[in-house]
Parts: sequence; C-alpha cells; structure tokens
Amino acid sequence: MCGIVGYIGDRDVVEVLLSGLGNLEYRGYDSAGVALNDENQIKIFKSLGKLKVLRENLEAHKSELKAPKSGIGHTRWATHGTPTTNNAHPHTCNCGSLALVHNGIVENYKELKEELIQKGCIFKSQTDTEVVAHLVAHEFAKTHKLEDALRNATKKLTGAYALCVMHKDEPDKIVGVRKNAPMIIGLGDGENFISSDVPAIIEYTKKTIYIDDDEIAVITKNSVKIYDKDGREIQKKVEMLPWEPVALSKLGYKHFMLKEIYEQSDVVRNVINGKIFDINEPVRLPEVNLTQENLKTLSRVKIIACGTSLHAAMVGKYIIEDFTGIPVDIEASSEYIYRKSNTDASTLVIGVSQSGETTDTITAIKQAKSTGSHILIITNRPDSNMARLADSLLSVNAGIEVSVAATKSYTAQLVSFYLLALHLAEIKGSMEKSKIESIKHDLIILPSKIEALLSDTKTIKDCAKKYSGYKNFIYIARGINLATAYEGALKLKEISYINATGYPAGELKHGPIAMLDETMPVLAVLMPGSIVYEKIFSNCEEAKARNAKLIALTSEDTPAIRSLFDDVLIVPKVHEFLSPILTCIPLQLLAYYIAEFLGKDVDQPRNLAKSVTVE
Ligand code: M6R
Repeated sequence: MCGIVGYIGDRDVVEVLLSGLGNLEYRGYDSAGVALNDENQIKIFKSLGKLKVLRENLEAHKSELKAPKSGIGHTRWATHGTPTTNNAHPHTCNCGSLALVHNGIVENYKELKEELIQKGCIFKSQTDTEVVAHLVAHEFAKTHKLEDALRNATKKLTGAYALCVMHKDEPDKIVGVRKNAPMIIGLGDGENFISSDVPAIIEYTKKTIYIDDDEIAVITKNSVKIYDKDGREIQKKVEMLPWEPVALSKLGYKHFMLKEIYEQSDVVRNVINGKIFDINEPVRLPEVNLTQENLKTLSRVKIIACGTSLHAAMVGKYIIEDFTGIPVDIEASSEYIYRKSNTDASTLVIGVSQSGETTDTITAIKQAKSTGSHILIITNRPDSNMARLADSLLSVNAGIEVSVAATKSYTAQLVSFYLLALHLAEIKGSMEKSKIESIKHDLIILPSKIEALLSDTKTIKDCAKKYSGYKNFIYIARGINLATAYEGALKLKEISYINATGYPAGELKHGPIAMLDETMPVLAVLMPGSIVYEKIFSNCEEAKARNAKLIALTSEDTPAIRSLFDDVLIVPKVHEFLSPILTCIPLQLLAYYIAEFLGKDVDQPRNLAKSVTVE
C-alpha cells in the first residue's frame, strides 16, 4: 500500500524519485519523503499530504543540495501512527547516518522498541519502521557492511516487509530486502533502480529482476548483486517487463478511472484473444495445468478473493455451477484464513486478485496450497507474489490499472471466469453444444456492445447529476446480476463516499424495506432472460409503494418499465448469462459522474489503496 523507489546513477536523483513516487501515487497514501545521499551526508525531506507538497518542500531546500548521487523515496499509507511528517518515511537512527523506508508491518516492533530504548535509542515517530532503522544502525556498527547489517537486523523481525536502506559511510550503494511484500530491481546502463512496483521504474527501464523473500539486493551505479539469506551470492533471471510507459498516461481523459472504463471493450477482446477462435472450436486454456481426467472428475471448487475480485468470484460461482454442475463456494479471503479450512487435494482453489499482492488473499492461498489443493490464480499481474503461488495462472491482460477503483480489471476477471466455465463445461460435456456456441458467439460480439454503450453516456450523466445529492442508495438485483448490484454499490461508496448497499432484491422485504422512503433511491438491475426479471419487477413495485425513487438498469425499454421507474439506464440486449459484463459499466460510470459532480478525488479516494498489503 506504501510505495518505495530507490535510484543510483547520474540522472537528477530528486526527479527520478519524485517521478517514480508519482507513478506509485495511485496506490494511495497520506505522506511522502525522500532521503538523498549528498556528498556522503544523508539528507531527509518529508511532507504530509500529496506529492506536490514534498516537491515544493524539496524545491524550497534546493540550495542545500550539492550533488546527490543516490536516494530512496517512499509514499506512506498509515498503519502505525497517524499520518504526520514525523511518521512519514524515511526513518533514521540517533545519529542520522542511515535512512530506511519500509512497506509492510513489523509485528514484533513493540518488544524490539523496548529493547532499543534500553540501549539508548531515541524514537521520533510512532511507527514500527523506525525500530528497523535503529536495528540496522546497531548491526552496522558491528560489521560496517550495510547488506550484512540489514540481513542480521531482519533476522529479528516478524511480519511483512520490503525495506530499502542507505548509509552515509557506504554512499555507493542502496540495499534492499523483502519478505511477503513486493520488491523489484530495474537494471539500467550506468544506473540502477529498486522499487515496490513496476510503474515507478517503467519510464527508465524494462529490464528487471524480481527479488524473492529473504533475498538481499545490493545495487550500485554499475552492478546489482543478490544474496540469499545466508549471504551467498545468487544468480537471478533478468526479465523484460510486459508494460509500456504509455499505460501510465491518462491519454486526454480527465481521470484514469474514466480512461480505464473506456478501455473495457479492448480488454474483453484481449482476454478472449487466442482463447476463442470459433464458436465450434473448444476454448483454448492451456494455462489450466490439470489433466482432462482431473478436470472431468473435479468435484469441488473454492474461490477466494476480496472486494471487487470477490464480486467477480460471485459471477464465477454462478456460471461454473450452472455450466458444469460442480459445487462452488466463494469466501472473502480475510474470513477463510481464520477458520478451519475445508479444502483438500480434491478441491480446485481459485484465487482472484487484480493486484496479485493482497495480503489476505495471499495468506488464504498459501493455506489452501498447504492442504494439497490445486491453486489457480486469476490476476492482472502475472509478475505478482500471488501469481508465483499458482499451479495454474490465468493472466487477465487488462493492462496496468491506475485508478484505485477497479473497473477494467473486474471485466477482465469476469471474462476469464466465462472462459474457464466454458472450458470446464466442454471437458465435462455438461452443457448443450448450442448453448455453449451461443455464449461464445455473444462473447465475441460483446466488445461492440460495450462500445455502443460507451458511445452515448448522456442519460447516465444526467442521472448522476439528478441523484448526486442523495445520501443513501440501495442497489438490488437477483441471480447472475446480484454481483453487479454489490459491485455497483461498492463503486459508489469508494469514490463518492455515499452510503450504497447492494442487496438481493428478494431480501428487501425481509428488512431493508423499512428504510425506504423518498430519500432512499433504489437502483434495480433487471435483465430479461430468466424468471428473476419478473420477480425484481415486483420487488420494485413494493419499493415504489414506499415512495422510493426508482432507477432501472435494463435492456428492456418498454412502457411498463418507463411507467414504473423514475429513471431508466439502457444497455444493449445481451444473453442474460453474459449481462454482468455489460451491466457493471453504467454503474461504474454512474459512480464516476456522481463523484465528479461532488468534486471528489476520483482516482485516489480517501483511505483506500490500490493493493492492500496489510491484513
Ligand atoms: O488486488 P485485489 O483484487 O486483490 O484487491 C482486492 C480489493 O482490495 C479491491 O478489489 C478493492 O475492493 C478495489 N478498490 C475495488 O475497486
């Protein structure tokens, strides 16, 4: 959730750090700081708030800088201690000889802090990180070698960390280590980079090394050396990043979220590209590393995820059960990890995550893996920690998603679930051929329907304006679109801070109907196809009788709809089974435009982070 960047080389160090941190800004943070090694002196600058405050701070102190040749920077998302300048990273030791930045949580920091206070350490912050700075300084006093000091210090830590450290007595190096938190090295020519994520370095290099747990990286201007936990040098594979720097540009859109919403037709094309060639040919999914026999006899599926990915999992459950008859459970990762696991070698466990770095899901997947389950990961980040745990990896290819609110990664996850469900159905022979073919056909033409939907958004904008003053909403649906109601409500909550609840339409009468009156609009997703369409219609009549304003999201533009509902958002006609891929889009836009009207920070909503690397 925090961001780290380190640089050593001949470029303007301050600029590289600020631009790297800027490209990590989307992850969400409350304060930022840099440490510069300036002619063998460590100089630290920290600011509360957005990066521009840090930039102004550095600008104001420019004359104090001589010629920094290396530096580390950090954006913080507070866990221990409120967001303040003192709590911002980098942290240092009593004498200020070193600077350290940290992502993650040091669980045993209280005990360590007590010990260090006894030894004379003076703490200036409330963070767990400062403990590590003092620890490394103590170890450095013994060895005078930063990599050894960091290795010895981390032996005392429990928890998760990606750490980067510099010392004034070893001005030519930056040292990093990680455990259960991401860290990569960017390789340049006469310069090197270290970061917690790709966007911070992609402008400068695509050549990268992924650091694994407990490995220590020592970067200098002209070399990168990686050591194992016992201090032995190891050779690591150099990989080429699959992203282009343009992925980090808004390309003329006001916000990344809007750009990403508009990318969804291409995203659907990308996901099915190379997987569906013709409606008569089987789906090609070689990524699923299970034999046909295993797949045929698969008796149980468990899907684990958080937030928006959990909503994609809901649709996954619906279609896998419908297409194959295999029972599927879904569970929030944070719930799965603290109860007796009921997965085993006969269960296919699917982890879904946009970022691939969500700690709750990683922990849950590790637990499931230890029970012998086959692990299939659906993620937008094939380079992530979660991807590394996969026995089968379905990379969803949505491209970097910068806005904190997930949009295109959700659609990509949904399409991946359709491919998987069709693949399983074909292997098991559990679904009529004609039904499979019609779903494939509709999947192939879906991008053009998304384009049609996005070509005229006036009704959605007008609706957003009309309803932006309401404080509470209920989003209802049934069947396959229940996840759409949950996801649409989550989008509204996340970026506009309006209270919106997703609810099964049939449950309205069992409680929430008590809240309905003219102040509580009800948005209903009602897509024709199955019996639930009529049922939702009746549920909406019940809401209308309580004076609730009604908004329909439907493909049916009929007099009956127009007379019952106050506002109607129309999507193109689509196979009901595929409708969640289409219906999520107007709800993303509705949330976007409401947040826009309210002047909210759409791409970086308060308190949220793009990848949640704490429990
Ligand atoms: O990266 P993940 O998909 O594992 O993240 C899970 C949730 O934190 C994430 O989906 C969150 O709900 C998004 N901000 C939703 O827009």
